[in-house]
Amino acid sequence: MSDVSRGQWNTRLGFILAAVGSAVGLGNIWRFPYMTAESGGASFVFLYVVLLFIIGIPVMLAEFVIGRSSQLSPVQALAQSSQRNWAPLGFLFVLTGFTILSYYSVIAGWTLQYMMDSLGTVFQDHSSEQYFQAISAGNRAIFFHLIFMGLTTGIVVAGVENGIERAVKVLIPLLVVLLAGLAVWAYRQDGAVEGYTYYLAPDVNKLIKSYSLGPLSVPFLNLEILSDAAGQTFFTLSLGMGAMLTYSSYLSKQEDLFEETLIISAFDTGVALLAGLAIFPIIHAFNLVEKVGESTVGTLFITLPEAFRTMGGWGMFLNFAFFAMLLLAALTSGISLLEVVTSSVIDEYGISRNVAATTSGLAIFLLGVPAALNTAWLSLADKIASNLLLLLGGFMLSVYVGWYMSAPAEELRRGLGWNISSLWLGLIRYVVPPVLFLLLMTGFWGLSQDLLAQALPGAGG
Ligand code: PHE
Repeated sequence: MSDVSRGQWNTRLGFILAAVGSAVGLGNIWRFPYMTAESGGASFVFLYVVLLFIIGIPVMLAEFVIGRSSQLSPVQALAQSSQRNWAPLGFLFVLTGFTILSYYSVIAGWTLQYMMDSLGTVFQDHSSEQYFQAISAGNRAIFFHLIFMGLTTGIVVAGVENGIERAVKVLIPLLVVLLAGLAVWAYRQDGAVEGYTYYLAPDVNKLIKSYSLGPLSVPFLNLEILSDAAGQTFFTLSLGMGAMLTYSSYLSKQEDLFEETLIISAFDTGVALLAGLAIFPIIHAFNLVEKVGESTVGTLFITLPEAFRTMGGWGMFLNFAFFAMLLLAALTSGISLLEVVTSSVIDEYGISRNVAATTSGLAIFLLGVPAALNTAWLSLADKIASNLLLLLGGFMLSVYVGWYMSAPAEELRRGLGWNISSLWLGLIRYVVPPVLFLLLMTGFWGLSQDLLAQALPGAGG
């Protein structure tokens, strides 16, 4: 959307497509299987779905309520729409956008390499694990990270919203068809069943953990998995950093925000679950458990080319098509990340869109270089961004909307079909903040323990 005269989405579909474009991306297809593999399979999936309903949907509604009522960019909306000064939350959003895009672009760069290299013979000559090790960190990774940041910045400078709408309209159905096809293909491979068990049958022993409080041992929900699942909920739905807020600031007052939220989150979750249905059977059918375990961050990238390779002549074409679509999906998400940063920089410093987007894009590129040199650093940045920054953003957003914003339930009620506004306000006030606070503390503790383990002598990588 151009920032000069504040327009509105031409159609309701336009808004939904842009929001789906932001939500569906690497978060669904790279991060969801990666976190599932890292956090213990089905238990993680189960908690993600639970959190989607009690945290994700209410927080998305909260962002929509702020955006639509203020019709302003996040920084301005928070600085102006209440007596208290909530501007620092706007800065947190910008910081988060910076951080996420810096490594997101590195992964999108891998995607671009996978796409291009399926045109050559490298996938015939090398295992995808060897290939992944070679291209995921180093000069080539930096180079492709630069290309992706250049593309994203170019699009944000040009402001081609119509392009996004059109791209998403074609892209999402194609992506779904391809993933569904892959899932069916995977189903027919020997050994697929173990993959389904790992992916879909939650294990109570993993869900519950004993915490020692002095001499006591208290069983409780496994907070580490829960905090990872919450991080995933925010990441995949583009919540907690103002992206959804920005897009909804162009909405008209008659829209049914709850309906939009349901549509967007259903699409997003559907794509992620489908990606898992393709990937986990393949991991087991192709004996990739160990390789994936060594580099969970590469789960997607190690798994799929192995499967495509066995499909004969069409395999590399499908590899190309798959990574091309993933690249587009990453672009529509990257654009929404850079848009938040850019619109806030414009508001803050009053500079032109060109300058704001280009300097931000360049700074983000530089910030991402360490992640392009070291995948361990990339995972760390991803943990910090999702489990701390996004959750903190979500926590502050819900406190603001629940306790400080004037008449949020009335704003939500405009255009609403089902009257869920009191239920929503109850969740945003009494459930979301304490749960997010607890998970933030868990995330903080978990991260500090990881860093401690790495620093102590005898740490194995
Ligand atoms: N939701 C996007 C994805 O799943 C990533 C994203 C996060 C985009 C936060 C915007 C804001 O790939």
